[in-house]
Amino acid sequence: MNIDIELAEGLKTPLYWYDLSLLEATLSEIKRCVAGKPVKVHYAVKANCNPKVMEVIASAGLGADCVSGREITAAIKAGFEPSSICYAGVGKTDRELIGGMKAGIAYFNVESLEELEVLNELAGEYGYQARVCLRVNPNIDAHTHHYITTGLEENKFGIHLSMLDRAIDYTLQSPHLTLEGLHFHIGSQITTMEPFAFLCRKVNGLIDQYEAKGVEFKIINVGGGLGIDYEDPDGHPIPDFQGYFDTLLTNLKLRPGQELHCELGRAIVGQCGSLVSKVTYVKKGVDRQFIILDAGMNDLMRPALYGAHHKIENLTAPEGEEIETYDVVGPICESSDTFGKGERLPKTRRGDLIALRSAGAYGESMASTYNIRTLPESVVR
Ligand code: LLP
Repeated sequence: MNIDIELAEGLKTPLYWYDLSLLEATLSEIKRCVAGKPVKVHYAVKANCNPKVMEVIASAGLGADCVSGREITAAIKAGFEPSSICYAGVGKTDRELIGGMKAGIAYFNVESLEELEVLNELAGEYGYQARVCLRVNPNIDAHTHHYITTGLEENKFGIHLSMLDRAIDYTLQSPHLTLEGLHFHIGSQITTMEPFAFLCRKVNGLIDQYEAKGVEFKIINVGGGLGIDYEDPDGHPIPDFQGYFDTLLTNLKLRPGQELHCELGRAIVGQCGSLVSKVTYVKKGVDRQFIILDAGMNDLMRPALYGAHHKIENLTAPEGEEIETYDVVGPICESSDTFGKGERLPKTRRGDLIALRSAGAYGESMASTYNIRTLPESVVR
């Protein structure tokens, strides 16, 4: 990941810095892995909705996975084809469903029987045929943080397996709905392939079961979730897409004509972004010292919200500077506004630039104005 330090020093911080060449290399690797395969990759817009970042991803030919009406609008504006947009979410409002239909999106990932009824009714009113993938809750533990595990039975997401028959019958019988396929998503920041392989085996069982009843699925959407290396971003700047797609394609028994869709967010944008921040103070405590940044939990919420750790680097300390131990914190009035404890960093001074690495996914998109702060700036270079 490249950051032009001279340029960054002259800009207002905190600042999201996106390395365009790494983003492009990541997208090329994805395209290489899926070339000639019946695979469609949708970019999960929620991970990063910076317009320039989205434009680069759209021009690489990916589809978009959206979770709100405004994400659909932003995706179309960034250049994603409406016919390559899928739309998930447990609480799509009438307005959002109508917006999706008017935009002509590829399909709705429908999460409940209740939503099916509303979509059928609205599609009828608008003289529209709504394409539907049913989001199934496969009850799989993705072994990740419990806030971002979504495939377990106790989560609010998807249709319970025991209700899938009814949902399929309803869709097939509804005059304004077309059943396109099944959708799954088991969680995020998944760093081994086993959960994906396990999901594929569950999906195979469902395909067999419904095929026997004469039900065909054109699309199998396995969602997103491929993780990134937060501790060694330079060692693994591009995630193991080859291993991921191999796992999916070898474990899934796709039928002729069936398409595999996925919805990757973090794996596409995570490593190309850093939050660049300036040191406001280095505060000496009794038995510790604090680096107080001008970036806070409002700019990068993941450490406070999930206990996540982003690698911290001093971008401007001279080579060979002695290493000291610091707690790295933000200026917000909450103890959870901490980016790292006991961090070993070169001797740091007021005015130094600090990078919080691997912040391209769920960084800028989750930023808030808490404490009436301004939203962070961004640069794509
Ligand atoms: N598809 C669906 C239905 C999803 O709910 C998500 C993420 C994705 C795809 C993309 O997952 P990814 O490939 O990025 O793992 N804010 C949290 C992550 C929340 C993920 C929510 N759903 C974080 O910062 O770790």
